[in-house]
Amino acid sequence: MNLKNLKNEIQEQVKNIKDLETLNNIYKKYLGKKGEIAKVFSSLGKLPEKERRNAGKEINLFKNEIKKILDNKLKETKNKLKKTEERKIDVTIPGQKVEQGHLHPLTLVQREIVRIFESMGFEIIEGPEVENEWYNFNALNVPEDHPARDIQDTLWLKQDKKKDSKKNLLMRTQTSPVQVRYMEKNNPPLKIIVPGRVFRNERTDATHDCGFYQCEGLIVDKNISVANFKAIVFAFLKEFFEEDIDIRFRPGYFPFTEPSFEIDIRRKKGDWLELMGAGMVHPNVFKAAGLNPNNWRGFAFGMGIDRLAMTKYNINDIRLFYSGNLKFLNQF
Ligand code: FA5
Repeated sequence: MNLKNLKNEIQEQVKNIKDLETLNNIYKKYLGKKGEIAKVFSSLGKLPEKERRNAGKEINLFKNEIKKILDNKLKETKNKLKKTEERKIDVTIPGQKVEQGHLHPLTLVQREIVRIFESMGFEIIEGPEVENEWYNFNALNVPEDHPARDIQDTLWLKQDKKKDSKKNLLMRTQTSPVQVRYMEKNNPPLKIIVPGRVFRNERTDATHDCGFYQCEGLIVDKNISVANFKAIVFAFLKEFFEEDIDIRFRPGYFPFTEPSFEIDIRRKKGDWLELMGAGMVHPNVFKAAGLNPNNWRGFAFGMGIDRLAMTKYNINDIRLFYSGNLKFLNQF
């Protein structure tokens, strides 16, 4: 075939191309292994030796020229496509709304507790959730094999063969062990709260779960009395609920306080809900922490954060907090 005609034919075909697929087919048709130019090459065999060499050179040049034409067209087409692609984005279409997350009601309540106690001069302390038996029980005046241990059903993690209470591991059943941990390292006077998660091997119902949150409180000074405790609890609850609510003190029993109390609050529907245990720090707890009980007096309390949240938001089942039910959670 006449090379000039071939070139015209190619140029003609390329002129109006707008998509890459057609262009790719043209590449194949002319420059491919079995393409038109390859055919011209194979026809060279028929020519006498002398002519063959010159013709070969000429076809090679021609091939490069065609390649250049197609490459330019490829570049041009890609650029054009990119521009129309950009124009396709309609910036006037309203965007998709991104759902914003929010804090869990128990986190909101915990933050509020921290805010109020901080404003009263308390320090916020944390302790480990995996605790040893000594801090969780022994140091809190709960001797081994004492029936008081059965009050809190424990989730054990590891029992030491030699029964070393510091090596027996459990999920803490209360935030009280942090009292001793803190007093071991810090001398009174002190004022702390310890919010955190606790675990018990308990059957659940509307007011009990097997994992829940407590907030421990501890004040130690020279002349601390139940009157101080009462004033602080009243002030806290008044600020937390933003109104006066009915509170009831009942005598209670905890091995680590003497005397001990239980404090209930009245819910909107009129019944009483136990909110916290409390009392004056037992001398044996001071001793376990390395303090002389003749020098110091203190009170401690441990309140249920879930129960505070239930009362504040009028929630009738504690298990809703842990259900992951968005219909419930999205209300906060
Ligand atoms: C204690 O855990 C003591 N450590 C409290 C304490 C601290 C007493 C300092 C004296 C001095 P109790 O087991 O009663 O006590 O739990 C305290 C509070 O945690 C309860 O009043 C209640 O509000 C909450 N609570 C207890 N068990 C559960 C449960 N299964 N689910 C939800 N809340 C609970």
